[in-house]
Amino acid sequence: MTQLPGLTVIDHPLIRHKMSLLRGADTPSKLFRELVGEISMLMAYEVTRTLEEDWVPVRTPLEVTSGHRIRGKKLVVVPVLRAGLGMVEGVLRLIPSARVGHVGMSRDEESLQPIEYYFKVPAESEVRRFVVVDPMLATGGSATAAVSGLKARGARHLSFMCLLAAPEGVRALGAAHPDVPIFAAALDRELDQNGYILPGLGDAGDRLFGTR
Ligand code: PRP
Ligand code: URA
Repeated sequence: MTQLPGLTVIDHPLIRHKMSLLRGADTPSKLFRELVGEISMLMAYEVTRTLEEDWVPVRTPLEVTSGHRIRGKKLVVVPVLRAGLGMVEGVLRLIPSARVGHVGMSRDEESLQPIEYYFKVPAESEVRRFVVVDPMLATGGSATAAVSGLKARGARHLSFMCLLAAPEGVRALGAAHPDVPIFAAALDRELDQNGYILPGLGDAGDRLFGTR
């Protein structure tokens, strides 16, 4: 169900159930990490629905038939550090041969502006599909900067996948990069005065890595 232009909320009972557990303030880091991985895997199934395929001959024990193979160079999963790291394993369970790029981006707590501190992506970016993963799309600053950085390095085919999106973030990312489809497990109400998503789940990085 799409509620904002460019956004697809992946609507599935398993995702809704797991998202409710994830939001719970008493959910410990171990379970939080497991849930982030499981939801990411379920979402990856939908995010990759439009991958192009080639026909290939397959010799079964009985005859030759036509099969399918995903077209082109290996897809690249790009976590936005730190919290995006929690989503990588789930995506790789569905696409084990994917490459992994990394974008280091932290949000200044006062200005809420993203600060880039690391960037590493595979070669031949122009011909690959990229799925940028970050659990939280809040103001949209980090996602917009990550996508801009990838485009500056040649990436042309990008999707953005998050667990929770705020309307402000969807609008900001959509305005800066209207060619990039956004996938979320849930669309929340708004941001608070500190740029936290409401009702949200808190600080995703801290909850994943137990740093608070
Ligand atoms: C969080 C989150 C996003 C960003 C979203 O990261 O993982 O990257 O905030 O906020 P925005 O849409 O307003 O930019 P944070 O900067 O807290 O870093 P961390 O992952 O290292 O904790
Ligand atoms: N980053 C988070 O981790 N949580 C929010 O609610 C907003 C940004």
